[in-house]
Amino acid sequence: MEIRIEVEADIAGVRKVEEASFPTKAEATLVDRLRADGSIVISLVAVENGNIVGHVVFSRMEFPRRSLGLGPVCVLASHRQRGVAAALIRRSLNLSKQEGWAIVFVLGDPTYYKRLGFDPELAQGFTSPYAGPHLMALPLQPDASREGLAQYAQAFALLD
Ligand SMILES: CC(C)(COP(=O)(O)OP(=O)(O)OC[C@H]1O[C@@H](n2cnc3c(N)ncnc32)[C@H](O)[C@@H]1OP(=O)(O)O)[C@@H](O)C(=O)NCCC(=O)NCCS
Repeated sequence: MEIRIEVEADIAGVRKVEEASFPTKAEATLVDRLRADGSIVISLVAVENGNIVGHVVFSRMEFPRRSLGLGPVCVLASHRQRGVAAALIRRSLNLSKQEGWAIVFVLGDPTYYKRLGFDPELAQGFTSPYAGPHLMALPLQPDASREGLAQYAQAFALLD
């Protein structure tokens, strides 16, 4: 299993994995919009035998400064429960930290994301329509914001 940065030739394969992993095409369309808007900072693919089996996106958020939003993340049903999503996320977090991004937000299941270092308490100081136990944050730098507005990239607003 190889984890690497998405290249142009992967885009159709990524869309297939997004469509196969979620009940509707909303997430696949979201990824396309994020890409078209130039909001994607990190897009990694998991590849097995030349086929894309997993994908994760980290996109630039409007607020706070130097923040990224994790998601969508998906892995083909046939390849789940093997740590593929965790590997995609950990690699993206390392890249984000190296590149100087200050904080990453995620909206999801706390049981899963707490294992990866995310904490709902660290998101509590932020104002967001998603505020609550499922909004979590992971500061990557000591000077990361602890409060203010947490606003995802524009493309997420079109999801609702
Ligand atoms: C969520 C998802 C990416 C996990 O992929 P994965 O490669 O199987 O994940 P990992 O192997 O790293 O971790 C598996 C663990 O995550 C848990 N898990 C799986 N899906 C989960 C979900 N939607 N929410 C919370 N936890 C989940 C599993 O119970 C498992 O826990 P265990 O180790 O205690 O058994 C994959 O199930 C998927 O693509 N689901 C459909 C798309 C989706 O819901 N994406 C997340 C929201 S953007």
